[in-house]
Amino acid sequence: MGMITIPREAASQGHAENQARLWCQQMEEGNILFFPQTPIALPEEDLHFLLTLEQNSSGLHKNLAYKPQLDRISGAEMKGADAAAGERLHHILREYSQHVTAFLASFLSPYQSRWQLDYGSFRPQEEQGRNLPLRRRNDLMHTDAFPTRPSRGARILRFFNNLHPTKTRDWITGEPFRRLAPQFAPQHIALPREQSTLTRVTARAACGMGLGWAIPALKRSPYDDFMMRFHNFLKENAAYQAQGKREAWFFPPGSSWMVYTDMVPHAVLAGQFALEQTYLVAPEAMVAPEHSPLAVLEGMTGERLV
Ligand code: SIN
Ligand code: FE
Repeated sequence: MGMITIPREAASQGHAENQARLWCQQMEEGNILFFPQTPIALPEEDLHFLLTLEQNSSGLHKNLAYKPQLDRISGAEMKGADAAAGERLHHILREYSQHVTAFLASFLSPYQSRWQLDYGSFRPQEEQGRNLPLRRRNDLMHTDAFPTRPSRGARILRFFNNLHPTKTRDWITGEPFRRLAPQFAPQHIALPREQSTLTRVTARAACGMGLGWAIPALKRSPYDDFMMRFHNFLKENAAYQAQGKREAWFFPPGSSWMVYTDMVPHAVLAGQFALEQTYLVAPEAMVAPEHSPLAVLEGMTGERLV
């Protein structure tokens, strides 16, 4: 798997539908789409604000999340003199989220915006040498799964901007899910099992009534459960971390990239100041659904997993 470079004109001037379809397919196969010059340029003064926020704000948390559904930021409980900075940060993240979403609506037109906007984030910390608990480390190879937000088969698509004025953001990526999963499951990690009809019907009903959050065990499908376990398994597997196949990528300042992080194992080794927006893309929108982790797992088990 590799990286597909998108020429600047293609990102800015529109393109044919079959070209957009090919990009969706390449991404669904496990490639990174790379924009040497980001299509989501920030106003100069906003960029400056983000790059100097750390020095100037005391109430700044390490991870700054933007929740588009609620139009709220978290991790920036800034009071007093910092309240204005909090407002401004909120504004910048909202604009970024909207801008990326508008861009992708046309750039990935075959998806017809059949996605749910998940969190966005600003990542002001230097990634190299961060001291995080093992399962939260992003410098260990992993596929993404969100403990609090099961996707029930929706795909995790993430769009990034490297805002650093001079430094690259350094990633490694590995073999895609369809090649990785069979190396470990079922010998080293148990495959998911289909739920009983009763559990499935109850789970559907609970989620349909908006009650899924109240009963996490129901909200999380067997697929979600496996994806969470797989995330942990990879991070905890020293042999895979040391010897697994990998490629290195150095995303330059001012570039953007996007990738299905639920299927492409990845780790960030160094870099500072990134913006990111996450989407949960509907499984029905896939142009090459056979590559999705859900299809791979259902193929391996012969069972329905959501
Ligand atoms: C991740 O592991 O999903 C984070 C990657 C990054 O922050 O560059
Ligand atoms: Fe990740």
